[in-house]
Amino acid sequence: MNTTDDALKERIKELTCLYEVSSIIVNAGVSQVQETFNAIAISLKKAFQFPQQTEISIKTVHYNFETGSINDVINLTSEIKVFNKENGFITASLKDDRSSFLIEERQLLESVAQKIGNLLERIEIQQNETSLKRQMERADRLSILGELTAGIAHELNTPLANILGFAELMQDDFKKDQTVSADLEKIVSNAIFSREVVKKLMFFACEMPQEMIKANIVPSIKNAITLLDATFRKEQVKYIVKIDEEEMLLKADNIQLTQIIFNLIINAIYFTPKDGLVTIEAKQTDKDIILKISDEGSGLSPQAMDKIFQPFFTTKPTGEGSGLGLSVVHGIVASHNGSINAVNNKKKGATFTVELPKS
Ligand SMILES: Nc1ncnc2c1ncn2[C@@H]1O[C@H](COP(=O)(O)OP(=O)(O)OP(=O)(O)O)[C@@H](O)[C@H]1O
Ligand SMILES: [Mg+2]
Repeated sequence: MNTTDDALKERIKELTCLYEVSSIIVNAGVSQVQETFNAIAISLKKAFQFPQQTEISIKTVHYNFETGSINDVINLTSEIKVFNKENGFITASLKDDRSSFLIEERQLLESVAQKIGNLLERIEIQQNETSLKRQMERADRLSILGELTAGIAHELNTPLANILGFAELMQDDFKKDQTVSADLEKIVSNAIFSREVVKKLMFFACEMPQEMIKANIVPSIKNAITLLDATFRKEQVKYIVKIDEEEMLLKADNIQLTQIIFNLIINAIYFTPKDGLVTIEAKQTDKDIILKISDEGSGLSPQAMDKIFQPFFTTKPTGEGSGLGLSVVHGIVASHNGSINAVNNKKKGATFTVELPKS
């Protein structure tokens, strides 16, 4: 750098870049982080003393961008921090090893790294807020559905019991008449099917009686797996069980606990392709028991994610599923004051996590 003029020009370039970066960041949408990084890197490159010789790289946990290949010999690096934790780096490198960076360029890089950190913080806050809002909306919808369902289920219970009771009485009266017996058999089996649906709806609405005892979840999981072993083999799906302790006690209804485990594992098997793996994991903290079922299926679309716990939501072909499995699980978990959530795995498939309080 020879003259004051040159130095001034450099300062102007740096200030222009800071101004540009600030504008880019102000206008950045949550869904355009990658584009924002690209624009920042390009603007930054221009601000350096030797733009042609300089390459910029921005690397964070979720996003990457390089204006060109970065050399390891002469470079400047600033840490990008998000909520005081290291999240990535921004690096400037010079191709020509006879040149070096200016002190002001180091400061510029630091300022931009800080701005990127602030942007990532803003995005994280926004994402948390959106997901919290979504969760609350979902919970609201489910609780309204629960109330509605409880009403319908109660209304249907008595007439269904009557249909079943009288049909069974008639079966006794018409034992000798084969045609009538066959018709009555159909009435009885359909009434039993409907009663099962009503029962599931009552589970969803947290309306089923419970026998809360001190229960150990470990044998419940192991028994379920033993019973489902044949299904795993038939569907050619592998499984691993990760349970470190033999005793994980909680206050729960043992039969309902088994229903949670069964429904989740059956779904995992159903949606996992041949040779895929289902992972069944249980652990405990001071206060909770955590059950995790992961699969290697297709995972859940955003639309499905919103509806999976609603009664009758199913993506199975007609006649294959009632769409009540997860509704029952949700109801049981809620009536145990626990929580359930579903997320898509990074690679493939979904993970359902159930947390149940120990007492
Ligand atoms: N492990 C999973 N992977 C992908 N999608 C799943 C998984 N578990 C559930 N789903 C989605 O949620 C829907 C509802 O599941 P739910 O268990 O309530 O009903 P179902 O399995 O379709 O029918 P049912 O359980 O009554 O036989 C499924 O149809 C599917 O779209
Ligand atoms: Mg199911």
